[in-house]
Amino acid sequence: MSASSPMEVSMQNPQDGGIGDQNGGVTINSAPSPILPQDKVLVSVEVSLKPSSTARANDVQSAVERMLEKRSLSYSDGPVPVPLDDRFLTENVQSICICDTDEWVQNHEILLFWQVKPVVHVFQLSEEGACEDVSGDGQPSTFNEWILPAKEFDGMWESLIYESGLKQRLLRYAASALLFTEKGVNPFLVSWNRIVLLHGPPGTGKTSLCKALAQKLSIRFNSRYPQCQLIEVNAHSLFSKWFSESGKLVAKLFSKIQEMVDEENNLVFVLIDEVESLAAARKAALSGSEPSDSIRVVNALLTQLDKLKSAPNVIILTTSNITAAIDIAFVDRADIKAYVGPPTLQARYEILRSCLHELVRTGILSHLEDCESMLPNFASLKEKLNMPEVQDAQTPLHLCKQLFETAEACEGLSGRSLRKLPFLAHAALANPYGCDPSKFLSTMTDTARRERSELPD
Ligand SMILES: Nc1ncnc2c1ncn2[C@@H]1O[C@H](COP(=O)(O)OP(=O)(O)OP(=O)(O)O)[C@@H](O)[C@H]1O
Ligand SMILES: [Mg+2]
Repeated sequence: MSASSPMEVSMQNPQDGGIGDQNGGVTINSAPSPILPQDKVLVSVEVSLKPSSTARANDVQSAVERMLEKRSLSYSDGPVPVPLDDRFLTENVQSICICDTDEWVQNHEILLFWQVKPVVHVFQLSEEGACEDVSGDGQPSTFNEWILPAKEFDGMWESLIYESGLKQRLLRYAASALLFTEKGVNPFLVSWNRIVLLHGPPGTGKTSLCKALAQKLSIRFNSRYPQCQLIEVNAHSLFSKWFSESGKLVAKLFSKIQEMVDEENNLVFVLIDEVESLAAARKAALSGSEPSDSIRVVNALLTQLDKLKSAPNVIILTTSNITAAIDIAFVDRADIKAYVGPPTLQARYEILRSCLHELVRTGILSHLEDCESMLPNFASLKEKLNMPEVQDAQTPLHLCKQLFETAEACEGLSGRSLRKLPFLAHAALANPYGCDPSKFLSTMTDTARRERSELPD
């Protein structure tokens, strides 16, 4: 059977300042699709249970549905307060969050309650944390394992900011792949696979996005797959030259994964970061500069992955820093390929804005009482930038212009560098206590310029 041609979910540097894409909002629901009046929009509502809750997910789901029916609210992404007069909900629910309305709202469409069909997903975060494979003989671990949805990844999806609906498209592709599998679509007639490849420059959030995607899918598909695991394969440790037993480690790793996969209620995500290192290791082994053991290990790993990808309840997530074709058959056929580029102006503004909110929340930045209106989101900013009070450096609203200028000065910096910028700027301040937001922003701009000047050409 010939491989299907990849669907490139490309995000190749869309024009700076452009807002959103034109696709409609979509919610994924693994249950059979209800017959809806044509104009209703499915909106996901994620309900996180308290760690102490022992309530049944179905009961909570019905209670939240009833609560939403009673409220005549418009729908936009973000938390919905848990009603204090509902004892069952206050006892069991940690948070309720509306998701996926972004694309509608960005297109300036307001979603009113009667246009929406909420799809409620109830979940409880696992607090176990990463469980390392410790062989006990001093060797580095070959994988980390999480039970999803994990507390560690809570909020990660929301913290990653991209334009052009990249995250929504990834979610949809993965959801379609799972649905095709579940419905038993004949792969000889329609072919698809469940391999995701995110590629792009360093620090653009690829690894984080893979983990966040696994977390999201584990929440969205929990009625079909009540158990989900993420296994992060530590490819580097498998090829360490200190390893004489790498082959055995690969076998052990995959027999563990196979055990999980055999349980049909499990959804298993396998993350292989910097997948190009596999190709590099194989090449080095062939040229004789690496121990011959490593070629056997790479080949064993690739064979195992090839076998694994035919299992219906496995999604293989891979990342790479190189954008050129990767010389490994199994990613080469990845259906879900996405270029993850450096953040655009809008994304830079939103990343820095979220950093400032955090500094205000923790009291590191003071004198910024009404943070939300002083620092509006990018869509509202565009309308405000021409207002006379924004031009006047003495007014608090001037801050949003300053933040916009900082975001402009950060062109070329990765998401990772941007998230470090407030820290570096704070450390550069002469008086870091009771720091004035305007002074802080200008220091941040200077720091950004310095960081940029240190980038390799
Ligand atoms: N677009 C973005 N929006 C928000 N945060 C981002 C973005 N891109 C990167 N970051 C931040 O940068 C940090 C590093 O991201 P991550 O390690 O996932 O990047 P990466 O692409 O895997 O990097 P590398 O190629 O070096 O492995 C994350 O903690 C994330 O918070
Ligand atoms: Mg990475």
